[in-house]
Amino acid sequence: MIDRIINTGVHDQDDQEEEKEIEVTLRPRDFVNYIGQDRLKENIKLAIDAATKRGEPLDHILLHGPPGLGKTTMASVIAHEMGSQIRVTSGPAIERSGDLASLLTNLQDGDILFIDEIHRLNRTVEEVLYSAMEDFKLDIILGKGPSAKSLRLDLPTFTIIGATTRTGSLAAPLRDRFGMIHRLEFYTPSEVEQIIKRAAKILNVKIDKAAAGELAKRSRLTPRIANRLLKRVRDYADVNGDGIIDSPISFKALELLDIDELGLDTSDRRLLNAIIENYNGGPVGLETLAALTSEERGTIEDFYEPYLMQIGLLERTPRGRKVTPKGYRHLNKSPLPNKKQSSLL
Ligand SMILES: Nc1ncnc2c1ncn2[C@@H]1O[C@H](COP(=O)(O)OP(=O)(O)OP(=O)(O)O)[C@@H](O)[C@H]1O
Ligand SMILES: [Mg+2]
Repeated sequence: MIDRIINTGVHDQDDQEEEKEIEVTLRPRDFVNYIGQDRLKENIKLAIDAATKRGEPLDHILLHGPPGLGKTTMASVIAHEMGSQIRVTSGPAIERSGDLASLLTNLQDGDILFIDEIHRLNRTVEEVLYSAMEDFKLDIILGKGPSAKSLRLDLPTFTIIGATTRTGSLAAPLRDRFGMIHRLEFYTPSEVEQIIKRAAKILNVKIDKAAAGELAKRSRLTPRIANRLLKRVRDYADVNGDGIIDSPISFKALELLDIDELGLDTSDRRLLNAIIENYNGGPVGLETLAALTSEERGTIEDFYEPYLMQIGLLERTPRGRKVTPKGYRHLNKSPLPNKKQSSLL
């Protein structure tokens, strides 16, 4: 259950359905309800206005950043604001270039094609996408060997919105074909508080201001986690109280979930402790860290690190990951004296 709060890795089918349903219910539909990310919103609004004025399609947009910050949501908001249709697919779902060709030829002028996990497109598909994005042409090769013919098809003028948690894994030629590249930032605690209040209203949950603030502080500055925590705490309030979420209820529920005042759970603390206990606080390489904690590399990179770095408990150095003095303090530990330094004394 604790994994569920932090990770998107939902294993249980029913839970997965419920989670999806909640996400859809709570997903803001327009800019007004999309809280925070002000710079991103301003840039996109400007681009939408300009494109509309010129009667041109919106530039291709790449959204990147840690999971749960609102990339998919932003794509649907953009479609709504443009009055466009949105088709949703993902990198791994487009297996062959033929799949991409049929997706693209079925679009209409002005449509948006949202490609989630775009860093997972395979090379051949990616290459077909290049010319499609650049000049709305589709190059296809018919037949094989010496009799093969290449054919150029005109495509409708569409907009690709790509989303990825890893810009680093995106090939440069693909990245270069996006007119706009935006990173989604972690939210401020007060923005998360607004998101919690909005979600509570929609879900008809009674929560007081203090409890909303407390949940906001422990939501890893991430809307998806804020919504999940709200749901868990509501369950607790329904079973152990009168359904109303106040401070004492939220404290007890969060304690039961083992989520501390910075939003860390047992897995985060285990990760930091592993670096401290086995490598004297680091630096330690990602592979080693993965082996040490039996977590996948990708999980560490996507879920654990961004937030731990954002709040300054962990830092990334050229030689690997290091626990910061703040990280030590948070775990009530003190760094051991560095061997080199002590031998100099
Ligand atoms: N700016 C926002 N304001 C209010 N709610 C938001 C906002 N951004 C995201 N949410 C909520 O958080 C949930 C998760 O957002 P979303 O699915 O868009 O994240 P994501 O960045 O696409 O994550 P992933 O990388 O895992 O695909 C949404 O269902 C929505 O309810
Ligand atoms: Mg998404």
